[in-house]
Amino acid sequence: MSIAIDKVNTDIGLREVAELADRIWHECFVGIISTGQINYMVEKFQSYEAMKKQTEEQGYYYLAVREDGELCGYIGVRPEEGDRFFLSKLYLRNDKRGMGIGSAMLGRVFDEARACGKKSVYLTVNKHNDRAVAVYKKTGFELTDETVTDIGNGYVMDDYIFEYKL
Ligand SMILES: CC(C)(COP(=O)(O)OP(=O)(O)OC[C@H]1O[C@@H](n2cnc3c(N)ncnc32)[C@H](O)[C@@H]1OP(=O)(O)O)[C@@H](O)C(=O)NCCC(=O)NCCS
Repeated sequence: MSIAIDKVNTDIGLREVAELADRIWHECFVGIISTGQINYMVEKFQSYEAMKKQTEEQGYYYLAVREDGELCGYIGVRPEEGDRFFLSKLYLRNDKRGMGIGSAMLGRVFDEARACGKKSVYLTVNKHNDRAVAVYKKTGFELTDETVTDIGNGYVMDDYIFEYKL
């Protein structure tokens, strides 16, 4: 098994990530949020157009995760002003979970943050996303706060905030 994690630098690469995001989100959030909310959030945050705007105007960048050349996951991050690095997205196809790829992805996030001179990585995670919460705790993230964010259309994100000190 050979894992490669590379920055997405092209429109084609971003479109591939959008396709994968659509597939993963419609699987991993079933039972956590409604199908209507999944559709809404994919369009608002993970469509090609949305990610293009995030990367061009909002300081985000994406990393593509490939196993033996096949795209199977992605990471979205944003270095912030001050000491913190925001881990916005960490998604792996379900058939690739539980094999250590998630740990490799988080290791890469920490490397990216260190390379930017940051002192911590923080993220938000749905309170009912038990597996992701378990992974973050096992990795050494600490629960620092909770937040409810109105994302429009009658939907909210009900999240924990976790932070990892580098
Ligand atoms: C989050 C995600 C990327 C993690 O990837 P993964 O392949 O499942 O993670 P790994 O198998 O590499 O496990 C990472 C660590 O967590 C541990 N872990 C995994 N599942 C666990 C569980 N249920 N309970 C406790 N620890 C767990 C592993 O042992 C490993 O720790 P180690 O490196 O010390 O052995 C993946 O599960 C995923 O894409 N989930 C769906 C999308 C999602 O919810 N993303 C997060 C949104 S905020």
